[in-house]
Amino acid sequence: MTQDELKALVGQAALKYVVPGEIVGVGTGSTVNKFIEALGTMKDRVPGAVSSSNASTERLRALGIRVYDANEVGELAVYIDGADEIDGRGHMVKGGGAALTREKIVAAQSRRFVCIADASKRVEFLGRFPLPVEVIPMATQRIVRQFQALGGHAQVRMKDDQPLVTDNGQHILDVTGLQIRDPLAFESDVNQWPGVVTVGVFAHQKAAVCLLATEGGVQTLEF
Ligand code: A5P
Repeated sequence: MTQDELKALVGQAALKYVVPGEIVGVGTGSTVNKFIEALGTMKDRVPGAVSSSNASTERLRALGIRVYDANEVGELAVYIDGADEIDGRGHMVKGGGAALTREKIVAAQSRRFVCIADASKRVEFLGRFPLPVEVIPMATQRIVRQFQALGGHAQVRMKDDQPLVTDNGQHILDVTGLQIRDPLAFESDVNQWPGVVTVGVFAHQKAAVCLLATEGGVQTLEF
């Protein structure tokens, strides 16, 4: 199976976690795009979605799925999103698509995080994938030095020769060289650094379930 087929498989499998009659939280990325396509087939049974990015909002609306502002609704039953890495306890690295801040907000508003991923995302320890961190631009170079002190190497994410600007008007640092052995403590620490908007470690908002697409089918991991 191609990676695209694996993503489609797990996007479809996630439908069984959507609660009929309830607004669903929707993440961002190529795996979630497959889920959004699948969600189109049950749009008459869901009142709508809360979206984690402008890109997902456009896709949802194009299928005729209503998108609610997070402030218009209360707690969501389920949030469905991909990951760049997931460990054996449901901790994740996210933000490869630069949507980490809104992803964390919608995840925090949801009772259950269902992660959809292909098997290449499963890791022993977080840190192989460059860690995305959304930052306020004036704090960038100090935060780069703070990561250096931890043994990391942070680079500003670029797009068309300019720093990429997120949906929130901020920049992204991608940090390599970190071994994140205690994701909860790491997330709490980096969150305290002035100028950090969101760190892409999702340990406080970890997955409750991971649907992992493999050549042998979809594995369900519960944490
Ligand atoms: C978006 O900002 C990310 O958190 C995505 O959820 C993550 O990068 C996974 O994306 P893919 O499904 O495209 O691999």
